Amino acid sequence: MSRLDSFIRRLTAQKILLEHVTDLVKEVAGPVLELGLGNGRTYDHLRENLPGRDIYVFDRELSCHPSCIPQGDFMIFGEIRETLEFCEPRVGEKAAFIHADIGSGDPTTDLATQSWLSPLVDARCKPGGYVLSGLELALDNFDELEKPDGIRPGRYHLYRKKI
Ligand SMILES: C[S@@+](CC[C@H](N)C(=O)[O-])C[C@H]1O[C@@H](n2cnc3c(N)ncnc32)[C@H](O)[C@@H]1O
Repeated sequence: MSRLDSFIRRLTAQKILLEHVTDLVKEVAGPVLELGLGNGRTYDHLRENLPGRDIYVFDRELSCHPSCIPQGDFMIFGEIRETLEFCEPRVGEKAAFIHADIGSGDPTTDLATQSWLSPLVDARCKPGGYVLSGLELALDNFDELEKPDGIRPGRYHLYRKKI
């Protein structure tokens, strides 16, 4: 498969899954955490699909489209390994939904990310909350959920924290 085809499939899967989860998460109160602002595409889609919801965005840098810069209090700069652990005074309530799009494509870096990210995601997600991640996570307190049709196995991972 060409890299263009792969890119298109990845973004199509991301859009289908984000819309699927934002429908589910309408039933769960609480903030949304967007891990990895990047260009701001998925952040923009989240705020469009969850109007009025607090969305806290984490990244080490600001490299998004100017129309997608989160308002000051909602942008948390730094290494997610540090900021996610210590964001409670700012974010308050545990998250109804955590979207993590911080895969690097490098297998060693991604294994390391999976290892530190999994317990932090567990700690910051409320019971009944959802996690959508490009990287597989080790989440013992969660069920892995079926994904909508058309998503290639292994492309994305969808979890719900046990109540
Ligand atoms: C693939 S991009 C996210 C793309 C975004 N979902 C979009 O739709 O535009 C990943 C982003 O995560 C950030 N990132 C990756 N690992 C990080 C880490 N450990 N701490 C902070 N930011 C990180 C990178 O700086 C980059 O902006």
